[in-house]
Amino acid sequence: MMSIMRDFPEDFLWGSATAAHQVEGGNYNNDWWEFEHRPDAKVAGPSGDAIDQYHCYRSDFELLAELGQNCHRLSLEWSRIEPAPGEWSQVALDHYRRVLETVAECGMTAFVTVHHFTNPRWFAERGGWLAPDAVDVFARYCDRVATELSDLMPWTCTINEPQVVAFEGYRQGYHPPGHRDRGEWMKVTRTFIRAHRAVVDLFPRAGFTLAIDDIEGDPELAAEQQYETIDVYLEDLRGDFVGIQYYTRAVMDADSPDLMAAPPEGTPVTQMGWEIHPEGLLKGLRMIAAPGLPVVVTENGIATADDDERIDYLEVHLRMVARALAEGLDIRGYIYWTSFDNFEWAEGYRPTFGLVEVDREDDLRRIPRPSAHAFGRVARSGRLADLRAAG
Ligand code: GCO
Repeated sequence: MMSIMRDFPEDFLWGSATAAHQVEGGNYNNDWWEFEHRPDAKVAGPSGDAIDQYHCYRSDFELLAELGQNCHRLSLEWSRIEPAPGEWSQVALDHYRRVLETVAECGMTAFVTVHHFTNPRWFAERGGWLAPDAVDVFARYCDRVATELSDLMPWTCTINEPQVVAFEGYRQGYHPPGHRDRGEWMKVTRTFIRAHRAVVDLFPRAGFTLAIDDIEGDPELAAEQQYETIDVYLEDLRGDFVGIQYYTRAVMDADSPDLMAAPPEGTPVTQMGWEIHPEGLLKGLRMIAAPGLPVVVTENGIATADDDERIDYLEVHLRMVARALAEGLDIRGYIYWTSFDNFEWAEGYRPTFGLVEVDREDDLRRIPRPSAHAFGRVARSGRLADLRAAG
């Protein structure tokens, strides 16, 4: 029960998220690394050492716990765990065991993503998500992970934003494999749904984390986008919970090469060019809660050079979460994207989403921003007003 003073329940998960390829560094055996190094790469730059979290995880987790977070979302890198088909790296599995033990030692609940965008190169080379047996190959990896690590995985995301991998990888071509093919997009979408179903029961508590944009614009394209990126996943949704990842509204535009319109001239946008549109989070929460599973906000965040703007963003979005809770929706936590400035995929290191700044000119030094302290105050008290309180 929520006391009268609180906006969020006592046992709410409060954390921030990362993904292996964006923070670990040196993930040269996956398809993103290959994509980053193509001669015609449409990527701002390679991931390189990222923020070297492969080595600095302990001090990073200690910092996040000190900042008041009680949960941490991170992902496992498939290409490290299974460097060749059916060949398991005990070194990598032992590493992730230590990583997950460290999250727990820091007093945080681990939220573990098994697949966050990257695939081993060998998986991509044999046809990636279009290969006829892609689901079986993915399930073999998940089975191994569950056998080795599920005692340390209280919350598991099977596949992160399958819609983004399918749409940006196979329809827009901005992510690997860089295809632009409507049929492939739809096929891969259904493959991801089968893949999720094949593995969701392997873990103690598992779900999809879904990118939910607020889709508007060209009616025909918007209807297709709504169905192919949201409704198809929510029909007959399997799992113990569902994660919502919300950033902005998507205005569909048949005349744009991206199929999406840029926000109208003069609209304030983030470093990603995204409009700040908090109402879409409330809409998305209602939509994603409809099938009846508990919901976790597994990503929401802003890329900005102005940390005051991040605090404003947190305030207006957390208010939507509080409203959804007040409406009675079963929301279990809020996980900000992202803990540390990191490798933002095709955009490289330019966008800064982190609660903690990473100084790339000074040995990847971590510098918590005021927003990290503000977020921690709300996490500790469960009161939105504490975002602004001094101290
Ligand atoms: C995701 C993402 C993150 C991005 C974030 C900001 O799950 O969407 O994959 O990895 O960095 O969304 O674009």
